[in-house]
Amino acid sequence: MANCEFRPVSGDKPCCRLSRKAQLCLGVGLLFLTLVVVVAVVVSRWHQQSQRSQWGGRGTTDRFPEIILERCVEYTQTLLPEMRHVDCQNIWDAFKGAFISKHPCKITEEDYQPLLKLGNQTVPCNKTLLWSRTKHLAHQYTEIQRDVFTLEDTLLGYLADDLTWCGEFETSEINYRSCPDWRKDCSSNPVSVFWKTVSRRFAESACGVVHVMLNGSCSNIFDKKSTFGSVEVHNLQPEKVHTLEAWVMHDGRGDSRDLCQDPSIKELELIISKRNITFSCKNIYRPDKFLQCAKTPEDSSCISKI
Ligand SMILES: *[C@@H]1O[C@H](CO)[C@@H](O)[C@H](O)[C@H]1NC(C)=O
Ligand SMILES: *[C@@H]1O[C@H](CO)[C@@H](O)[C@H](O)[C@H]1NC(C)=O
Ligand SMILES: *[C@@H]1O[C@H](CO)[C@@H](O)[C@H](O)[C@H]1NC(C)=O
Ligand SMILES: *[C@@H]1O[C@H](CO)[C@@H](O)[C@H](O)[C@H]1NC(C)=O
Repeated sequence: MANCEFRPVSGDKPCCRLSRKAQLCLGVGLLFLTLVVVVAVVVSRWHQQSQRSQWGGRGTTDRFPEIILERCVEYTQTLLPEMRHVDCQNIWDAFKGAFISKHPCKITEEDYQPLLKLGNQTVPCNKTLLWSRTKHLAHQYTEIQRDVFTLEDTLLGYLADDLTWCGEFETSEINYRSCPDWRKDCSSNPVSVFWKTVSRRFAESACGVVHVMLNGSCSNIFDKKSTFGSVEVHNLQPEKVHTLEAWVMHDGRGDSRDLCQDPSIKELELIISKRNITFSCKNIYRPDKFLQCAKTPEDSSCISKI
């Protein structure tokens, strides 16, 4: 056995040396090739990644599909059982269809029409509350006054409130890394177009006396660039909307100015009157009292003015 290891045949030696060289060459060559392939893959991945995460806004909210489905079930089964007939799987499919596989800067109001159709909801006359920069207070109010609706108290607004979402062109993926920012990237992004579309629809379907809660602490109490000022004001239907009543919310620190005389409110009045809708305005000097009286309207201190 031992002598088997040393049985070189004369012709073997040069052959062996050559083949060892060749093996070495082959080895180095293979290693190099592998390296090239690995680098190419890494570079192309990185390129894809950087193309995907090119947006300046935050990415899709974690668990976005699950949240939409959960909120839909909660809304239609518990919050507003009149909407029990709504199929939440269909709602999610329509929501997805609005932005998946589409360039997130080329979303149109048309993309959301199937969702709007499925989520169609009628708010009773006199029960629409619009708001601008008073979101929290407006929602506190409708939580007490359950028959009054802000947009976020309707199914579609409820589904999307405080969420972010976007997809990627020609892939069925949801982009959790980044989404277009309204200012830095583009305004035709899935989130902005959604709110514009549902706000327009919400204003169009309002009737009777419509209220808007405005923030008296802001320098422009009425801001033409807000969703209220740029979309809702222009989509109230004069045939249906009798009056727009503004509630100007004070900060509650005893400021007694009449903020209904503010130049921006006068501007709102002019726009509304020109659209043949009656305008009225109220100062709400004590928002805390206002909420309290919504809760217990029979309280003696609530019967007179707030
Ligand atoms: C929504 O419902 C109302 C009546 O409930 C109807 O007049 C309207 O056409 C519907 N809109 C859509 C888009 O289905
Ligand atoms: C809406 O409010 C107006 C004015 O307060 C009132 O005349 C009208 O009857 C109300 N409509 C409904 C449907 O409650
Ligand atoms: C009005 O705006 C200020 C500044 O953004 C905010 O701190 C305040 O809470 C707002 N007031 C209401 C009633 O929402
Ligand atoms: C408002 O009403 C007046 C008179 O009824 C009418 O002449 C005018 O065209 C209306 N304006 C709008 C914007 O509907």
